[in-house]
Amino acid sequence: MAIRQIRKIGDEILTKESKPVKEMTERTLELIEDMFETMYEGNGCGLAAVQVGVRKRIIVIDVDDGNQYVLINPEVVWTDGSQTGPEGCLSVPGKSGQVTRPERVRVKALNEKMEEYEIGGEGLLARCLLHECDHLDGRLYVDLVEGELTDADLGEDEA
Ligand code: NI
Repeated sequence: MAIRQIRKIGDEILTKESKPVKEMTERTLELIEDMFETMYEGNGCGLAAVQVGVRKRIIVIDVDDGNQYVLINPEVVWTDGSQTGPEGCLSVPGKSGQVTRPERVRVKALNEKMEEYEIGGEGLLARCLLHECDHLDGRLYVDLVEGELTDADLGEDEA
């Protein structure tokens, strides 16, 4: 396992669409392990592969509920409600802003064994899932911020 370098806002790769994963390989499994390690090192609750410079549709999430989620080729299949709250991103260090997103989501994805599953989330988990899925389409939360982006240390809410 290794900690990888996190790409920062301004790096063109963060605006690019990531590509679907077709098969699991040793290299991709290693990438997933490294993504978790890199996320924990940055005190984040989620990370997309593109944030470590790999344009594959892979995200990892741990919102501190004791569960590690790996989502490959994720698709948001249902959303409900609305929540407004602070959001941050490991690719936009030291900043935070208010973002409105659905309160509840369901996401279909493959796990690291390439088996399909569905995950439902609300609150922070929903926010994190949507934030990471946005990364796979080259979108950053800063474009959704209401009002000003402010200086903040969000710690575990960064994604
Ligand atoms: Ni992010």
